[in-house]
Amino acid sequence: MIPAISVSDLIFRYDKGDFLLTCPQLHFAQGELTLITGANGSGKTTLAKLISGILRPSQGQVQIYGQSTQSLSLGEIGKKLGYLFQDPSRQLFAGTVWREMTYVPHLLRQEQGPTDEKAHHLLERFGLGKLRERSTYYLSGGERQRLAICTILMGGATFLLLDEPTVGLDKQNRTILYGILDDLLLEGKGIAVITHENELIQRFSQAPRVRVESGQVSL
Ligand SMILES: Nc1ncnc2c1ncn2[C@@H]1O[C@H](COP(=O)(O)OP(=O)(O)O)[C@@H](O)[C@H]1O
Ligand SMILES: [Mg+2]
Repeated sequence: MIPAISVSDLIFRYDKGDFLLTCPQLHFAQGELTLITGANGSGKTTLAKLISGILRPSQGQVQIYGQSTQSLSLGEIGKKLGYLFQDPSRQLFAGTVWREMTYVPHLLRQEQGPTDEKAHHLLERFGLGKLRERSTYYLSGGERQRLAICTILMGGATFLLLDEPTVGLDKQNRTILYGILDDLLLEGKGIAVITHENELIQRFSQAPRVRVESGQVSL
């Protein structure tokens, strides 16, 4: 079976500064959760941006379901891979919860009936059903983060890359998040979670682990 994501022999350097990221062969399987751990500043977010096509490697390549990201636009990548930013507020822009959910489908002129149904279903499932008309500005950290995950799922992504999703969440919201991850795995989604939160690492202690240390990625 083709892995959901495969990374091979990546080398990346920012234009400014001397940070260098190197990553040998690495695969992320569908239907599995992989933990990406490492200290602050080790290069986890850089790796996530390379995988999601926001940054382009100087050498090596990333394949999503067998297709090189070099041949895919960000929009095409986004249909397969959903990237939850380290600060999910940065990916909310449409005003209200409902507009956030329907913005892209509306832009793409997708049929309204099925789109609305999907949006309702996801919001209910993630405990946001009653907040449909709420301005995203007034959402709590946990609500904002669940909404960002919902908007990613609206696009049909089958692989989720979550950058430090527990930061800023209280115990209750962290527990909700773990349940959501369990559900998504049962549905067959692939997930990679960047974290240095011990609780999350313990909760998914059986998960395969990728380590990032001073720009070097290893298994
Ligand atoms: N746009 C940028 N330009 C130059 N250096 C950057 C940029 N973004 C991040 N860095 C540097 O890259 C290194 C890794 O950062 P990052 O990937 O955000 O680490 P982590 O997510 O593990 O905390 C850090 O030294 C950081 O300062
Ligand atoms: Mg980071």
